[in-house]
Amino acid sequence: MVEIQKDVPLNDLNTLGLPSIAPLFVNVTKREDLSDLYQEGFFSSYSPFILGGGSNIVLSEKLNHPVLKISISGVEILLEEKDDARIRIGAGENWHNFVNWAVNKGYGGVENLALIPGTVGAAPIQNIGAYGVEIKQVFESLLAFDMRDGTFKRFYKNQCKFGYRDSIFKRELKGKCIVVEVTLLLKHENHDPNITYSGLREALNDKGIQDPDIKDVFEAVVAVRRSKLPDPKVLGNAGSFFKNPIIEIELYEKLQNSRTGIPGYPVDDLHVKVPAGWLIEQAGWKGKQIGNVGTYKNQALVIVNHGNATGEEILNHAKTIQDSVRSMFGIELTPEVNIIN
Ligand code: EPU
Repeated sequence: MVEIQKDVPLNDLNTLGLPSIAPLFVNVTKREDLSDLYQEGFFSSYSPFILGGGSNIVLSEKLNHPVLKISISGVEILLEEKDDARIRIGAGENWHNFVNWAVNKGYGGVENLALIPGTVGAAPIQNIGAYGVEIKQVFESLLAFDMRDGTFKRFYKNQCKFGYRDSIFKRELKGKCIVVEVTLLLKHENHDPNITYSGLREALNDKGIQDPDIKDVFEAVVAVRRSKLPDPKVLGNAGSFFKNPIIEIELYEKLQNSRTGIPGYPVDDLHVKVPAGWLIEQAGWKGKQIGNVGTYKNQALVIVNHGNATGEEILNHAKTIQDSVRSMFGIELTPEVNIIN
């Protein structure tokens, strides 16, 4: 029997530290818990919210849906052959702990993704990425529970429709599947570290490292992240609050003429990706606080909870930022975080 708890506070289960009550709450520690819930008719009565590390969500004070916290653990080396190691990880494992484990084992491929908060199961859903690497580059497959028919299905990389902070699990399969384990392909020999991101290269150069190994990259990423991003244990936050908007090249060229130094990265012949943090800083929001909510002093893309903010206050703050960026640049910012009611 799976225990279903009532009126459970989620304050400590979301990195923004928002007050929120789940009407029903289940801590899922093994796959069979999901099958049991299915047998009991849980999924035909409710559409639950699936909670991982709570690091990319804004919660309202009283949720309308039951919450399933995925705590399935385990890290298993399936195979080591030639240069590759195939690793299977339970969806509830902490992502950074897994990265740390991989780096200590000498497995390459995830070192650029150090210190990203959240769980392993949530990582492919939004195709987490940082410092020139996205999880899709090392992804083999995942196993998901289908809430519609109670079966477990394997999804290989080409079925996941990975994009920038995007996958099929945020679109067609949203609210239908629960990730229970993830299989990654890491390199245990002949790994070629990715130091394409200039901030990372500079951090390594500052330490006099020209030819970094996995651990060097890991340590540099940790240092760069600590200097730019707030530790959620110290200051509540959900990482980047907005996506970096992709705009038409005409608008980008127009802005280049009127605004000096607008950064942009070409996406294709017609589109350019612009850092939302730059836009928000230009609009005057960097380091600014209103009531309980603020924008982080070292990275304007991060909204922080300075004390007792509610989800509603966070969203109002976000809307004010969106309004000022829209009126200043004609660019629409869309949230990267998920808003849960
Ligand atoms: N910038 C500013 N002011 C700011 C912040 C940024 O002017 O306050 C400009 C700078 O020109 C900087 C550029 O924006 O060169 C890019 O900034 P940064 O390298 O910090 O990266 P980002 O585009 O703001 C993205 C990801 C981060 C990831 C970093 C590093 C998104 C939405 N965010 O941020 O991911 O760590 O790149 O790769 O794509 C997250 O998703 O939670 C996250 C933190």
